[in-house]
Amino acid sequence: MTTSNSFSTIRHEIAGIPVAQLANDFGTPAYIYEAALIRDRIRELNEFDVVRYAQKACSNIAILDLVRRAGGLVDTVSANEIRRALAAGFRPASDPPEIVYTADIFDEEALQLVNEQSIHVNVGSPDMIDQLGERAPGSHITVRVNPGFGHGHSRKTNTGGESSKHGVWHEQLDDCLRRADRHGIAVSGLHMHIGSGTDFEHLASVCGAMERCAMIVGRSLTTISAGGGLPVPYRDSDPTIDLGEYFRLWDATRSKLAEEFGHPISLEIEPGRYLLAECGYLISEIRAVKEMGDNLFYLVDAGFNNLARPIMYGAYHPISISPQHGSERKEHDVVVGGPLCESGDIFTQEEGGVVCARRLPKATVGEYLVIENAGAYGYVMGSNYNSKPFAPEVIIDGGKAHLIRARQSFEEIIRGESIPDWE
Ligand code: LLP
Repeated sequence: MTTSNSFSTIRHEIAGIPVAQLANDFGTPAYIYEAALIRDRIRELNEFDVVRYAQKACSNIAILDLVRRAGGLVDTVSANEIRRALAAGFRPASDPPEIVYTADIFDEEALQLVNEQSIHVNVGSPDMIDQLGERAPGSHITVRVNPGFGHGHSRKTNTGGESSKHGVWHEQLDDCLRRADRHGIAVSGLHMHIGSGTDFEHLASVCGAMERCAMIVGRSLTTISAGGGLPVPYRDSDPTIDLGEYFRLWDATRSKLAEEFGHPISLEIEPGRYLLAECGYLISEIRAVKEMGDNLFYLVDAGFNNLARPIMYGAYHPISISPQHGSERKEHDVVVGGPLCESGDIFTQEEGGVVCARRLPKATVGEYLVIENAGAYGYVMGSNYNSKPFAPEVIIDGGKAHLIRARQSFEEIIRGESIPDWE
């Protein structure tokens, strides 16, 4: 891993368009994505046989369409994510499957849709095999395995080990094979997603676990998936992943298995954050600058209804100011908060809700503040808390900004609500 990041605290433009113009054209808060960067990211992973985008990171159908055109396939975790994939032109019954459903349960809606559309299933619980087999005997599945250990950027994102709910416990793989057999279902692949964030020593043990599990499955195996979890730097001091080394470790596992089974094994990777995080910005307007004792606050019009990562995980996002006049600004320590009626609505906080200050340029009301690296798990984890609308989403491609989701209206927010005829 190498460390070579340098986040600036001043940002005038995004992909060639001034922040002020974006704010003017689309209003604030707004999500802005850079198409070219997403394409670059997919290209960087082209040594893998399949780059399967984990759309939970950012599921706008325009993003899915872009991923599809760039040669990526897609992962889904719910009935509506399957519908999004279909709406973006991914084909259901295809080889390799363009759409995979990866989850730890089927709700009735997902089970029905998976059957109707012949969606490939990556099961995360043994019960799913019986539920699928009762409806669609004879299909084939992949199994997501929990190898007994995990790794993640916070306790809430650690996806392996005994206290994780994800995947099939490695010692139950045999049981899964028996269940699959009973329904005439073939287990054609294994999948291990062991947390968001990774290091190579840890990865080597994941590859080792994959090899042991593959031996249990045997010759029906044709695919292995490395899952997601490729990290991106959020701070200057964060390392940048060495993709060559990452691929080399997985490729060695793939080769061993191909030799063992005497047929090719396809190697998939399932990134969400890696494709989207650094391509997305949440732009906001500073609406108040106020002192609270020793603390100085910038209050902006975006809140945790737009970006929940800081309040949920104490996640750090680079922040920049877009000065409207001159660019020589002194810096000072600032706490950045949003408009919500809740004290936790702070973008500069650490895990546990500890409010922190950030060294940022002096700015005034009416100037724009950009929260960076916000493309993954940003918009999609938004909410209507305080009846705030979902922000618009905009993608810049070839110097042109396209609105790909309009700001939600009040009518859309209350759609489906009704007042009963009171007694
Ligand atoms: N595949 C599976 C089965 C997953 O569960 C996930 C993420 C991914 C792929 C993509 O992981 P990525 O490459 O994006 O790290 N909301 C949290 C992250 C939750 C990740 C859940 N699963 C955050 O904002 O950091």
